[in-house]
Amino acid sequence: MSGPRLQRVADQDRRLIEITVDGWAMSAMEGDTLLVAILAQRSYLREASGEPQGEMPAAGFCLMGACQDCWVWHEDGRRVRACTTYAEPGMRIRTTWPDHLLAS
Ligand code: FES
Repeated sequence: MSGPRLQRVADQDRRLIEITVDGWAMSAMEGDTLLVAILAQRSYLREASGEPQGEMPAAGFCLMGACQDCWVWHEDGRRVRACTTYAEPGMRIRTTWPDHLLAS
C-alpha cells in the first residue's frame, strides 16, 4: 500500500496546520493526533528499520496508548506516542531516531 492508510470521510472543515515529519512538510487538521495526521498522508507511521523497532513498517496497533507501537520523537529527542499526542503547528517529528543518539 503506497497511498494513505486512513481516508477522511467526515469532519473535514477543521483548520489545517503544518508539521514536519522526517524532514518532510505535512498538513494535519487541528485536533488530529500525530498518528492520524501521518496515516492520512501515507501508509505507515514508521518504515521497517530492524531492532528495536521491528522488521515491518509500523502503523500503530491499539490506537489508544497501550501497545507502545507508535513511538515517535520530537527533534529535541523527547519521545511521545503518536496515537495520544495531538499535532501542533510547527511540530517537528522524527519517526526513527539515529542509533548513535539513542546511545547518548
Ligand atoms: S498505537 Fe498503541 S500505543 Fe499508540
